[in-house]
Amino acid sequence: MAIKYIPEPFRIKAVEPLPVLTRPARAQRIAEASYNLFKLRSADCSIDLLTDSGTGAMSAAQWAAIMRGDEAYAGSASYERLLETARDITGFDFIQPVHQGRAAEKVLFPLLLGTGKVAISNMFFDTTRAHVELAGARCVDCVVEAATQPGLRAPFKGNMDVAQLRKQIAAHGREQVALIVMTVTNNSAGGQPVSLQNLRDVYAAAQEYGIPVCLDAARFAENAWFIQQREAGFANQSIAQIVRQMFDCADFFTMSAKKDGIVNMGGLLGVRDGASSLVQGVRNGCIAYEGFYTYGGLAGRDMEALAIGLRESLEPDYLRYRVGQLEYLASRLDDAGIAYQAPVGGHGVFVDAAAMFPHIPYQEFPGQLLAVELYKEAGIRACDIGSYLLGNDPDTGRQLKSTFEFTRLAIPRRVYTQAHLDACADALVAVRQRAGQLRRGLRITWQPPVLRHFQATLEPIAS
Ligand code: F0G
Repeated sequence: MAIKYIPEPFRIKAVEPLPVLTRPARAQRIAEASYNLFKLRSADCSIDLLTDSGTGAMSAAQWAAIMRGDEAYAGSASYERLLETARDITGFDFIQPVHQGRAAEKVLFPLLLGTGKVAISNMFFDTTRAHVELAGARCVDCVVEAATQPGLRAPFKGNMDVAQLRKQIAAHGREQVALIVMTVTNNSAGGQPVSLQNLRDVYAAAQEYGIPVCLDAARFAENAWFIQQREAGFANQSIAQIVRQMFDCADFFTMSAKKDGIVNMGGLLGVRDGASSLVQGVRNGCIAYEGFYTYGGLAGRDMEALAIGLRESLEPDYLRYRVGQLEYLASRLDDAGIAYQAPVGGHGVFVDAAAMFPHIPYQEFPGQLLAVELYKEAGIRACDIGSYLLGNDPDTGRQLKSTFEFTRLAIPRRVYTQAHLDACADALVAVRQRAGQLRRGLRITWQPPVLRHFQATLEPIAS
């Protein structure tokens, strides 16, 4: 029996019509998009679950603040308001606005990494991995073993395996390991949370070796919710208190504010020690790539909306509903016996495409195949989080085998209702029913060298 859906703690003020195409039209559109969901037009998607990034609905308070935006090139009052909020929430001295998360990575990572260096993470997300590699360094993932078993229900499957971290530091040599990145929640592992104990253990180990820690904080509020709900000793602490303790476990943070910041565009970069010489490097990089440091690629009005979004994401009623939506959709999949990364994470249901298509090898991209079939079935746009996303080894050029073959249904914040989620569950059930008839997966016909999944073209392999 599906669990109870938690009513939205808001009502709807503005609506957008959704397109509904016929089944033959959808088959044609996905072929025209060369089986890459990023190449579909949004006007051809009925329920768009490609990402929860920048796709949320802003509140009336955020829209009202848009008018207050101070668009001064330098020293804008909106910058000051954003700084005050971000400092208060994170406890960091130095905060730099940027236009999105990867801009923070681009500015920060070359200051910390270089050729021959290694960065270790509980799991890198794709752009974070790309910016480590663009800085000349190499990535090592050290997620706990539990994350690799989608059916195994454990409270903090996003954690870093600390023993493995120590082994990796010993293997590469302490001088080579220049950065540890803790991703909260752990997107690539299925939006899985990281416990505060784990953040503390990693930070203690990092300090022992003298290696800086960067928090990849895109979904910091959802992570704090899981700590409050699942970790012993935090039930009576506020989300804000927990968030502060999470940030206490890092020297730097990068944040795509398009997720828990609940804005359509924005990001932040933080340096704990405002007196660090690195701050000047961040400002220099920001001026070169993003714009003057008091706006960092954002309009004044964007900074206003972000200052409010950061606070709204900490509201318990919102987080209960937000994670409740995911739990509702997951419970519908439980009823149907469809496997996913369980328990469900904070921002999406990561369906286990390898379990749905056990006969399709990783080189034929089961996660991408399920995404294509979901679109054909019901106009739902999802994405692959598996070998197709992972790409090729930067040294050998060979296809890497991902630990998972997921199809991610990412849920935008405050956008879709229970009926939309029911339509997604029904579509997954329908695809599962004909999964055995899909004998072969997809092959890539063209790909760019970096972040290929956004642009590559594919075709079905004839069976
Ligand atoms: N870090 C994490 C954990 C992310 O999930 C993302 C983006 C980024 C960094 C980069 O941020 O997009 O603002 O430049 N994730 C999106 C997603 C794209 O769909 O999961 P960005």
